[in-house]
Amino acid sequence: MAASSAASSGWFAVARAAEIGTTPVPVGAGGRAYVVVRLRPGGEVSAFPARCPHRLVPLAGGLVTDGRLVCPAHGWRFDGDGRCTEVPTLGADGCPPPRADLVGPWAVEERYGWIWLAPEQTRAGPPRPVAEPRPEPAPPPGPPSGRVLDNLDPSLEHAWHPVAVTTELRPGGWLQVRLLGRTWTLGRSDDGLVISPSAFGVRERLGVVWLAPADPIDRTLDVPEAADRRFVPRWLPPTRSPGPAGPLADTFLDATHGPFVHATTIGTPDRADVDPVEVLAEPGGFRVVREQWVDNPVDPEVATGARPLRQRRRTTYVFRAPFRLRLRQEFLDSGAATTLLYFLQPEDLDSTRIYTCLLVSAGPGQPLPTPGWLADQVALQRRILAEDVRSQELLSISGLPLDPRDEVHVPADRAAVALRQGLCEFVAAARHLAGRSAAA
Ligand code: FES
Ligand SMILES: [Fe+2]
Repeated sequence: MAASSAASSGWFAVARAAEIGTTPVPVGAGGRAYVVVRLRPGGEVSAFPARCPHRLVPLAGGLVTDGRLVCPAHGWRFDGDGRCTEVPTLGADGCPPPRADLVGPWAVEERYGWIWLAPEQTRAGPPRPVAEPRPEPAPPPGPPSGRVLDNLDPSLEHAWHPVAVTTELRPGGWLQVRLLGRTWTLGRSDDGLVISPSAFGVRERLGVVWLAPADPIDRTLDVPEAADRRFVPRWLPPTRSPGPAGPLADTFLDATHGPFVHATTIGTPDRADVDPVEVLAEPGGFRVVREQWVDNPVDPEVATGARPLRQRRRTTYVFRAPFRLRLRQEFLDSGAATTLLYFLQPEDLDSTRIYTCLLVSAGPGQPLPTPGWLADQVALQRRILAEDVRSQELLSISGLPLDPRDEVHVPADRAAVALRQGLCEFVAAARHLAGRSAAA
């Protein structure tokens, strides 16, 4: 709960009662952001804080289902008192942690045709208004109270960042790119890549041009699929997210938001619970491996009856700080595998460019995937990516929270916790290096 202040004491008329139904409405009371909503048609009004405690997603995007407010990101459910009654990844018998409960205003009342909020303890009952109340505009959902990693963090100087797909920089041509709030001009001459103003370096790898503003401390992301002739690569067109890179990397690592964020593409609403995974620490990042039984209807051997529809699938996430990810899914019986690479370019505080490469193999002894099938896969990945970017637009946050007190983690969030720890270690190492350089 925010500290008490004169500005937030007393009763505030926040909305006309007739305008509040079962869709959450953002409101402001004493400078604080809330949402108000009826959890049953015609029922009493409930007031909640503006952000979900899990990943700070604005609850204004939530849905009312069976008398509960459901967060749009991972489906946590809250009753009228703000108590978290369900966390889907914990399964039907799971018990949400106490910190998952919402801490709303001290009181909410419907009176004189208006909804009134008292952010803090005050005298009982709102006063009869002597004139038409004028609700204050709803403020944006507040920032995390602790430290966040935003796109202009000085530590990011000490890493290789993607700034273009190789094919965007033609021989003899040049490009202007944004990185960490600055503009660089990249050129391709007969002698190789040139950059202005100067930087630690510029190089090409994995079909991407990389720029390191200062001496880099990051570790290379290995991509064995790039040298494996059974894998056919396809780049998605680079796209942008109107938010910082940290939460976007978090989204790409998130195996639990599928039923909610990707309900119309790959979501599996009947399987929202996710087994906890083991996280293996590696230099510069970590690896997460998960195995599940899933249907594999595209396996040609399923149609012949040589293999069952239900098959074992291994998913491997490899993360390298600050913002590189390799996500590989392979069916262990057929050997068919799909790998996604995500490289993020922190351009400005509110802009991240996304490079996505799809590498597909039909498995040992199988013909290479056809161009038509690959085109379908690229189209699907573009739709999934658009859903992830849309979730970032709604998140409206300045960076990835690094203070564990700002979020609530459950066992299915181990990769997310590892991401935050990995980025904390990266920031600390970059600061150490910068401090040593300044002292030298
Ligand atoms: S359930 Fe609300 S952010 Fe995850
Ligand atoms: Fe996603």
